[in-house]
Amino acid sequence: MTSGNVLQVRVDLGPRSYPILIGPGTRSELTQVTRYRSRNPQLVVIADRTVADLHGMALAAALPNPPLVVTFDPGENAKTLAECQRIQEALAAARIERGAVLLTFGGGVAGDLGGFVAATWLRGVAYVQVPTTLLAAIDASVGGKTGVNLTAGKNLVGAFHQPLAVVVDLDFLATLPTRTYTAGLAESVKHALIRDADLLAWHERNADAITARAPDVLAELIARNCAIKAAVVAADEREADLRAILNFGHTIGHALEHLLEYELQHGECVALGMLVENELAQRRGLIDAALADRVRTLLARLGLPVRLPRPVAAVAVQQVCAVDKKTADGAVTFVLLRALGDPVKVRDVTPAEIAAALEVITPT
Ligand SMILES: NC(=O)c1ccc[n+]([C@@H]2O[C@H](COP(=O)([O-])OP(=O)(O)OC[C@H]3O[C@@H](n4cnc5c(N)ncnc54)[C@H](O)[C@@H]3O)[C@@H](O)[C@H]2O)c1
Ligand SMILES: [Zn+2]
Repeated sequence: MTSGNVLQVRVDLGPRSYPILIGPGTRSELTQVTRYRSRNPQLVVIADRTVADLHGMALAAALPNPPLVVTFDPGENAKTLAECQRIQEALAAARIERGAVLLTFGGGVAGDLGGFVAATWLRGVAYVQVPTTLLAAIDASVGGKTGVNLTAGKNLVGAFHQPLAVVVDLDFLATLPTRTYTAGLAESVKHALIRDADLLAWHERNADAITARAPDVLAELIARNCAIKAAVVAADEREADLRAILNFGHTIGHALEHLLEYELQHGECVALGMLVENELAQRRGLIDAALADRVRTLLARLGLPVRLPRPVAAVAVQQVCAVDKKTADGAVTFVLLRALGDPVKVRDVTPAEIAAALEVITPT
């Protein structure tokens, strides 16, 4: 998976297969990637404004043509149909054609919004993901899920649209605030827990280098995570079944995110969600206390929260879980571990079990 200091992971989806390129300076690959059909493609960068200010010049300098740059205000609020329309009006004004290549530049918001713009502009044009957060590099940019939010809920409108490539340039990630970087690590621990026991041990051995963002360790972390996500997506591109295991930690995590009114970042809530879901699994005799403790210790070492900042009512958590979009036939689906690397979907978790398991993250 190496060539020079660029690590490469392939997402195998038949005719929709694509590479993920990871390393410092990988933006230099963008000329070749964007020239997949023509030497002189129209290029559009759809960018988070903060990221455009920090790195837009470096990105543009790596492209074969000067791009049209359309920015949006950072944050989850940009993931709307209105914002999608605003960007597409700009594409229309610039006469962006079918052969154009769009580049999404920023975190998961840029990827989801920009990917959805690409999926729907002229019924679908090519695009490249250039993720700049750890969460986007190891999770959101891989797999082709794009979309926007409605007032009724997150990601309710969307499309599967696979990119031409994902280009992770570590130079862009260097400016990530510590808290945002650390939040992304929760998804890495999640991947290890659902698929890769060895990756969990690797986190434990390298925890200090991970928090220090040692370049080689960071590149390896991203590559190993992309390989896991790519394998899950390749086996189940449209989330018929297996892909749902990626929701480990998220049933509770999403509820906490909502109830804490976004005071905690997504990854921080996923960390807490994994702890609660492990407690659920432990109380059911699926996993032992040693594994649950190992996860708690690791999350704390990585700088992730292991307790809520303020109490949250169990009944509220149960209610939010019940309206979660993973609900089918009125039952909430949980992904629980039955061993390290071996998740199972469970649909009979009771409110009483949720209330009891929440105690594991209740403030002391
Ligand atoms: N499509 C998928 O499969 C998938 C999977 C997981 C998450 N998501 C989505 O991803 C989104 C969250 O992504 P996120 O956590 O990356 O959030 P984000 O895109 O909002 O980025 C977080 C913050 O970091 C800033 N930022 C980004 N890169 C930076 C850099 N290099 N230097 C300095 N600041 C930088 C942004 O301006 C923003 O304020 C959610 O909308 C979620 O639904 C999608
Ligand atoms: Zn997540």
